[in-house]
Amino acid sequence: RELCQLQPRINRRWARAAAVLKELEEQCATPTEKLKEVADAMTKEMHAGLESEDGSTLKMLISFVDKLPTGDERGLFYALDLGGTNFRVLRVQLGGKEGRVVKQESEEVSIPQELMIGSSDELFDFIASALAQFVASEGVDFHLPEGKQRELGFTFSFPVKQTSIASGTLIKWTKRFNIKSTVGEDVVGELTRAMKRQGLDMQVTALVNDTVGALAGGIYDDNDVVAAIILGTGTNAAYVERADAIKKWQGPLPNSGKMVINMEWGNFRSSHLPTTDYDQALDAESLNPGEQIYEKLISGMYLGEIVRRVLLRLAVEAALFGEEVPPQLKVPFVLRTPVMSAMHHDTSADLKVVGAKLQEFLGISSSSLKARKVVVQVCDIVAKRGARLAAAGMVGILKKLGHSNGKTKKRMAFAMDGGLYEHYTVFRESLLAALKEVLGEEASASVSVTMANDGSGIGASLLAASHSRYLEN
Ligand code: GLC
Repeated sequence: RELCQLQPRINRRWARAAAVLKELEEQCATPTEKLKEVADAMTKEMHAGLESEDGSTLKMLISFVDKLPTGDERGLFYALDLGGTNFRVLRVQLGGKEGRVVKQESEEVSIPQELMIGSSDELFDFIASALAQFVASEGVDFHLPEGKQRELGFTFSFPVKQTSIASGTLIKWTKRFNIKSTVGEDVVGELTRAMKRQGLDMQVTALVNDTVGALAGGIYDDNDVVAAIILGTGTNAAYVERADAIKKWQGPLPNSGKMVINMEWGNFRSSHLPTTDYDQALDAESLNPGEQIYEKLISGMYLGEIVRRVLLRLAVEAALFGEEVPPQLKVPFVLRTPVMSAMHHDTSADLKVVGAKLQEFLGISSSSLKARKVVVQVCDIVAKRGARLAAAGMVGILKKLGHSNGKTKKRMAFAMDGGLYEHYTVFRESLLAALKEVLGEEASASVSVTMANDGSGIGASLLAASHSRYLEN
């Protein structure tokens, strides 16, 4: 008799699971038409953000980079890249046109979580001390002419109101950082003081967002690069704008007639974005409610967390993982995007990678094949929505640049950087497919996307070089 009662209950649960999945699929749907609407909304917000300081969800920040690397850059330069869970230090010996990047070395240091929400001095001391150690290991292959001070490109991947190429104040933190005392401060000043405290003799000659660094690095390799996209812990884009199109710009127009704009597209918001209750709850409980809405649908910091929220609902309402709701599943951010990606790419017949990851990260000791399949489906829906929305944003930029206006279609290339795009194959492929789908076969033939491997690090050192104090002109 017990068995007889069990079966209908099991059936009811699977029906419930199917209903939750169906609802998720519907709410996350991104048909081509919708993506076009998102692209149009992005173009519109770009225009509005260039008009005025606060008329748009896009800050469209002026980077003070009005000339991009030419290939002539020479000398030894350092770069420091702060923005994700790790920060990186880099040194590059640039050899001009013939030599290009003669030699480079880098080191990655992970930032303890408590430093991301502690005090400004603690964070910058930590960074400066790692930088000082790195400088101390400089070998003879790197050459600094006598009497010259070492120069640094500082890639700081947060929204900054630049006051010059080498100074700017933090507007707000994003991603996992939240240190009140840094907001409103000049971050170059913060770093410079910390370097002094470490006894490190070095000057910041360029302060850049990672998108701006990636754009500089991208153009160094390919002249047709018009924009750079970051898809990593966070997401953002930068592109080359006509200086006279920046209505809010009050300074003198640069000789080049151009200006790189850091869009801060992570903060994009639009009624066309497909969102769910999971997204709303994630946002409400985040460090920055109401902000970075586009980023929260797309980037590596959040995709795994969205999946966790869906799985928790499935565990509660459909007993997906048995009678008890696995306690680990209730912990925010336990399911990281790399783990989600590993589960999503499991091709084994019994989905053993899914089983193993559920056990390792969520403490689910046994899971049925049917449940594992549901997990993969959830990953699929969430990853594809994010990838397709990112593609729509890229189309928005192309429109702003006039790609596909008129008969000739100039080749336009995107420099891409970030671990999400690099390592999450389904995400990458869905993005590229959606780009084609929205642009159409013909228009998409003149658009390319290249992985700028570590573009933002190299780019920052190139910009440090082109803004060096020792340049003759
Ligand atoms: C966040 C930051 C932005 C950065 C992006 C990618 O969106 O606000 O400045 O470029 O992450 O790292």
